[in-house]
Amino acid sequence: MAVTKNLLLVRIFSLLFTAVLSLSSPYSFDTLDVPSSIQKTLDVLSFTTHQSEAATSSSSSSSSSPSLPLHPRDSLFQPQHKDYRSLTLSRLARDSARVDSLNLRLQLALDNVNNSGQTVVQPEVLSSPVVPGTGEGSGQYYTRVGIGSPVKKFYMVIDTGSDVNWLQCKPCSSCYPQSDPIFNPSKSTSYSPLSCNTSTCRSLDSHGCRKGTCQFKVSYADESRAVGEFATETVSFGRSGKVNNVAIGCGRDNKGLFFGAAGLFGLGRGSLSLPAQIKATSFSYCLVNHDSRSWSTLDFNSSMGANSVRGPLIKNKNPILDTLYYVGMSGMSVGGKPVSIPTSVFQIDDSGRGGIIVDTGTTISRLPASAYKSLRDAFAKHTKDLPSATGPSPLDTCYNLTSFKSVKFPTVSFDFSNGKSVSLPLTNYLLPVDSEGTFCFAFAPMKGILSIIGDVQMQGARLSFDLKNSVIGFERNSC
Ligand SMILES: *[C@@H]1O[C@H](CO)[C@@H](O)[C@H](O)[C@H]1NC(C)=O
Ligand SMILES: *[C@@H]1O[C@H](CO)[C@@H](O)[C@H](O)[C@H]1NC(C)=O
Ligand SMILES: *[C@@H]1O[C@H](CO)[C@@H](O)[C@H](O)[C@H]1NC(C)=O
Ligand SMILES: *[C@@H]1O[C@H](CO)[C@@H](O)[C@H](O)[C@H]1NC(C)=O
Repeated sequence: MAVTKNLLLVRIFSLLFTAVLSLSSPYSFDTLDVPSSIQKTLDVLSFTTHQSEAATSSSSSSSSSPSLPLHPRDSLFQPQHKDYRSLTLSRLARDSARVDSLNLRLQLALDNVNNSGQTVVQPEVLSSPVVPGTGEGSGQYYTRVGIGSPVKKFYMVIDTGSDVNWLQCKPCSSCYPQSDPIFNPSKSTSYSPLSCNTSTCRSLDSHGCRKGTCQFKVSYADESRAVGEFATETVSFGRSGKVNNVAIGCGRDNKGLFFGAAGLFGLGRGSLSLPAQIKATSFSYCLVNHDSRSWSTLDFNSSMGANSVRGPLIKNKNPILDTLYYVGMSGMSVGGKPVSIPTSVFQIDDSGRGGIIVDTGTTISRLPASAYKSLRDAFAKHTKDLPSATGPSPLDTCYNLTSFKSVKFPTVSFDFSNGKSVSLPLTNYLLPVDSEGTFCFAFAPMKGILSIIGDVQMQGARLSFDLKNSVIGFERNSC
């Protein structure tokens, strides 16, 4: 009898306790420290960019897996901005241009498949989604890498959305400005042009032949391009070794602004990408905040961190889209509760439409309009009491937090199709857009054929791509 009574008391007690808990904490949230966030936006304007060798040398790890430094663009080549708002506006303009042209490119490609009744690749539209459309240049993250023999070092944009590697070469009929001297293949003993009849040449979406030598062309919706000879060259990873015979385009007629970079490394899933060319079975990167002056690494053949939240990597069966890294997701949660988004949004249909990719070239994550609206409304429901503010397009959910010290916001998480879930830190979905206390929800709607997980949502986590087992890992706090 006494035992039963005790049990009953325990039950009543725990029920009460649960009730109190759920009253004080109806949803999961994160707290924004407003003054310290604003201070950071002021600090970033006084940064001077740095390109010292000390900061750009290879990772100090002595492991034999190749590792490269990874810098946010603005820590290297940030143009002067009068205030944080103007810096934000230039980033968002660049981002919108990238997303629009990525979408246009995919749309045209898919239309092409439909019209002909079979998969006909339209190379002009396909070759690369990096679009320097705003006069400020494309590419959010840069690596520093050695190319040729003897080794010369170059800043290269990294892009998970394309495959073909290329850099500007001498003699150049047209080159945009870059920060390092232009690569001169005639001074490199390891440079070897590819002949037209090689399978490597034939794997290019757009290839030509001149005097028996393979010609590559990557072009962009806004008429930017890189055209030249396709070759193999040695790529050096500093202390972690080098790899010979990596296919790389030697661009001699290049148009567009890649803002200081000598060229681009494609990290896509195709056979010409850097990971494929160095036979990496996995790679990983950690993106530091755009405002950070610190740097992280791009690692190849490294094992996935033990604390990684793992989700499936999915391939688009449409060969036109097989470069992209699609993540198997089932939905998203706000404040710990699933948002009602049709699961079809995250699924790839028979024509290749739908699904969600990770893209290092996109800043703000994009969702189809109706899915975005559900996510935003779920978020806004918890923040009704905060004064709203007008933000820069495409951000439409902003707050004036000038007179606040600390503010609670609901958590946001990505829910993978295998049941695992990765919860984002607040800085990955609430962006300061000026130094006056305006903060915006960092997702946006998109009229397109897919959804995108952008940089802001990936920052601070190490993303690992296990190519062999088709698994993606998110490991928080590991830059
Ligand atoms: C392509 O074909 C599919 C299947 O017939 C159809 O559902 C889709 O609307 C077509 N898309 C375009 C852009 O023509
Ligand atoms: C490519 O062409 C070269 C010379 O034109 C020839 O020696 C070689 O065997 C050819 N390779 C293939 C794979 O056809
Ligand atoms: C990566 O690992 C694979 C499998 O062990 C190996 O074949 C490849 O050469 C490695 N690549 C590099 C660059 O270390
Ligand atoms: C933000 O709120 C403060 C008062 O808390 C006000 O003085 C300021 O004008 C507001 N800013 C904007 C952009 O509305």
